[in-house]
Amino acid sequence: MDSHQLRTVLAQWATGVVVVTTVRPDGGRHGMTASSFTSVALDPPLVSVCLASAGTTCRTVRRSGVFAVNVLGHDHEELGRRFAGSPGETDRFALGRWDTAATGCPVLTDAVAWLDCVVAACHPAGDHTIVLGLVRDAATPRPAAPLIYHDRTFYEGIAR
Ligand SMILES: Cc1cc2nc3c(=O)[nH]c(=O)nc-3n(C[C@H](O)[C@H](O)[C@H](O)COP(=O)(O)O)c2cc1C
Repeated sequence: MDSHQLRTVLAQWATGVVVVTTVRPDGGRHGMTASSFTSVALDPPLVSVCLASAGTTCRTVRRSGVFAVNVLGHDHEELGRRFAGSPGETDRFALGRWDTAATGCPVLTDAVAWLDCVVAACHPAGDHTIVLGLVRDAATPRPAAPLIYHDRTFYEGIAR
């Protein structure tokens, strides 16, 4: 399978957009944009994200054993872009207002929803890792239309 063709095909799958956050060993924050969030089970409450194994977020989540999933709203495109960009010298968390959930993970005060999780399992899958999270706490801080990602483009919410 040609990887360029595979990416083009997979880009046709529309998703919501989340920011996965976690805690660094020094107590600092880390996070990245993701579209691979999925609900897995209700009993026990399990969710998953699929993270590039070589990335900072995956390594930091494995080390901390905790992560939060922040569901972005229609007006969070800039946040979605920032948390997908190279961290470099810019603090990704300089944008948005952040609280701290029970696990210590950052949660966005105006997220459409957030889930605070402890890592239940990590399953290697090619160059990614499927991270299963046991949901410890969850909230819907702001009832708003979600940010959507399709064909490498952000869209503001859904027409009803
Ligand atoms: C809309 C969107 C969705 C993304 N989804 C994922 C994803 O599910 N898993 C992943 O590993 N990277 C995903 N990425 C790429 C990461 O956000 C990007 O590589 C980021 O810089 C990784 O940060 P890190 O190296 O600090 O972990 C996505 C990017 C965008 C723009």
